[in-house]
Amino acid sequence: MSTKKIVIALVALSFWGANAQQRIPEVEALLQKMTIEEKIGQLNLLTPGGGVATGEVVSKNVEAKIKAGEVGGLFGVAGPDKVRVAQELAVKESRLGIPLLIGSDVIHGYKTTYPIPLGLSASWDMDLVKQAAQMAAREATADGINWNFSPMVDIARDPRWGRIAETGGEDPYLGSKIAEAMVKGYQGDDLASAHTMLACVKHFALYGAAEAGRDYHSVDMSKIKMFNQYLPPYKAAVDAGAASVMTSFNDVDGVPATGNKWLLTDLLRDRWGFDGFVVSDYTSLNEMIAHGLGDLQAVSALALKAGLDMDMVGEGFLTTLKKSLDEGKVTEEEITNACRRVLEAKYISGLFEDPYRYLDSKRPETDILTAENRALARKLAARSFVLLKNENQLLPLQKNKKIALIGPLADSRNNMLGTWAPTGDVSLAVTIQEGFKNVAPNATIQYAKGANISDDAEFAKKVNVFGPRIEIDKRSPKTLLKEAVDLAKNSEVVVAVVGEATEMSGEAASRTDISIPDSQKKLIKALVETGKPVALVLMSGRPLTIPEEFELPAAILQVWHPGVEAGNAIADVIFGDYNPSGKLTATWPRSVGQIPIYHSVKNTGRPAPENDEFQKFRSNYLDSPNSPLLPFGYGLSYTKFAYSNLKLDKSSIGQGESISATVTVANTGNYDGEEVVQLYLRDVVRSITPPKRELKGFQKVFLKKGEKKEITITLSPDDLKFYNSQLDFVAESGDFEVFVGTNSDAELSKTFTLK
Ligand code: BGC
Repeated sequence: MSTKKIVIALVALSFWGANAQQRIPEVEALLQKMTIEEKIGQLNLLTPGGGVATGEVVSKNVEAKIKAGEVGGLFGVAGPDKVRVAQELAVKESRLGIPLLIGSDVIHGYKTTYPIPLGLSASWDMDLVKQAAQMAAREATADGINWNFSPMVDIARDPRWGRIAETGGEDPYLGSKIAEAMVKGYQGDDLASAHTMLACVKHFALYGAAEAGRDYHSVDMSKIKMFNQYLPPYKAAVDAGAASVMTSFNDVDGVPATGNKWLLTDLLRDRWGFDGFVVSDYTSLNEMIAHGLGDLQAVSALALKAGLDMDMVGEGFLTTLKKSLDEGKVTEEEITNACRRVLEAKYISGLFEDPYRYLDSKRPETDILTAENRALARKLAARSFVLLKNENQLLPLQKNKKIALIGPLADSRNNMLGTWAPTGDVSLAVTIQEGFKNVAPNATIQYAKGANISDDAEFAKKVNVFGPRIEIDKRSPKTLLKEAVDLAKNSEVVVAVVGEATEMSGEAASRTDISIPDSQKKLIKALVETGKPVALVLMSGRPLTIPEEFELPAAILQVWHPGVEAGNAIADVIFGDYNPSGKLTATWPRSVGQIPIYHSVKNTGRPAPENDEFQKFRSNYLDSPNSPLLPFGYGLSYTKFAYSNLKLDKSSIGQGESISATVTVANTGNYDGEEVVQLYLRDVVRSITPPKRELKGFQKVFLKKGEKKEITITLSPDDLKFYNSQLDFVAESGDFEVFVGTNSDAELSKTFTLK
């Protein structure tokens, strides 16, 4: 980095996050020159392409608006040459030449797509998560992007909600670590570098708690729950220095997030000290009309006054703020403040120093989809897989077997990337059949589709909005099934790849039934009935309800939607080149009736018996145990890990002190492998009802076969704290129980006292 750049970066950093009075002189000088219309223009974010599919060209209308100084940023435009066209319009042809922010949804990789976020979170490997975000930033910035609409850090405890796929799961502690790693990965140490981009934390707030798991639905939640369970990851992202925040579609306490002053100003800015800018979600400002808060002028004024700085696509700010100013409904200071925040972000990005900083036409060739990036995507994918079951050590398979590779997802290129991968290219994805042949060239691999993902044509139509994900075969279901069964009978082992098509999860893809579609259930049953050993490779964007299918095959490997290297990574694990180490980050229910379901539930006054047996007048169900099918933190390995000798370094501590737990973990199986050692805490007595246990620490460790290690996890004073009825973050004196083990049902425990 040149000295000049270092100086700019340092100046920028010292202003960023500093108190609001300390301002960037260049920005202040620019504000002095701006007309009110130009200030309002900076609050306008447009997409020439419109919608999820990225725009191809800058449309006339947008062009005129950029020249008129009516656009602060664009998204849906990519590639240095295309972005340059837009940037030049702003820089050379608008009166003040203010450069544009160029945004994009780089959710799980830019062109080198890696696993959907729910999958990535299952790696529990924060170094890798950060590396993933760094790679995404290197690729996206090579294509002219300087602002990313990620990370999505919404806590999700309802797998009916399709966007659980884009989250890090149900847990606020793990979610906070992921949020931090991603922000740091995208933003690096120097936002003005041409290889880093502004992060945008979304969706603020509580989007994952949509009622009944229906997307965009209302949220109604106590402040206690909000502060303790749902807000921590957003706060962690803000604390990590996230430059921007995106509001959510839902209401919070009766006011849509986009117009919610308590959320955007009292909490985000005043309490958390956030000094970046806030952008709406796609037309979420206009949607406040449908929410029932008034007309476009009224909701735009409401949003500005609440603390919204930038309006995505809806042009409510652009078309009504001047009028509201003239009518005394908003103040010039409010407009100036919002504009300042947008300009400060541009300054921090280095765009004032060089508006073409991200526009090197050679970079796409050298930085995107490199062999190194694809290798990282393959590694990330293998580490996201969770081994749910492995009877008789069926997996890993030897590389010389006669394998029947069966299932509608076994040779489907279109379903490998997963939801929200608009910058990815499905045609580059490695299918599972290809991956098997690459990794095990000496195996005999024969393929049959066996079933359609779903036989329901109406359902398929809804899923296929972005391309053919569910392709209903011309052959009858019976013919497909027979072909597969015949193949299975004629093989040594069956690998069946089943589950959800890409767009069966994701935005506006909620389901009331989250089981495997019937067509595939029949296939699994028929394959198991052949008597051949069956390994299921299960693909989905969410936890599924599979109580019956879980019992049938000998082995199940959950692979989410793995990204561009899907087939290779799956083959790496199936054939034992990598020993799976992923752990679930969202609980898998037995049935939809158990939802919402998550590990940090409260005890209640009438807890059900620990052994899950029904007892009248206890908090349980007549027709189901309380326990899930698979708990949070669950995941097997090809080897075995034994835990023993849990110790605490103190039996009591004072306020402000730390305490460490040490446990011995031994690899007692036949393979080298990694284990995620998890620590859960129970605050035994406190002023508000505590969860039964909460995740408060974890460590991913590698142990050679036969190796034993002492693992220490330290609890900081903050780990003992919670938000009380006054919403103060406190630790209360009393006993705490520590549990350490391989998942959230960890059994080893020790108690300490906080004096
Ligand atoms: C999504 C956001 C996304 C935005 C822009 C919205 O529909 O909710 O997550 O960033 O579109 O593409």
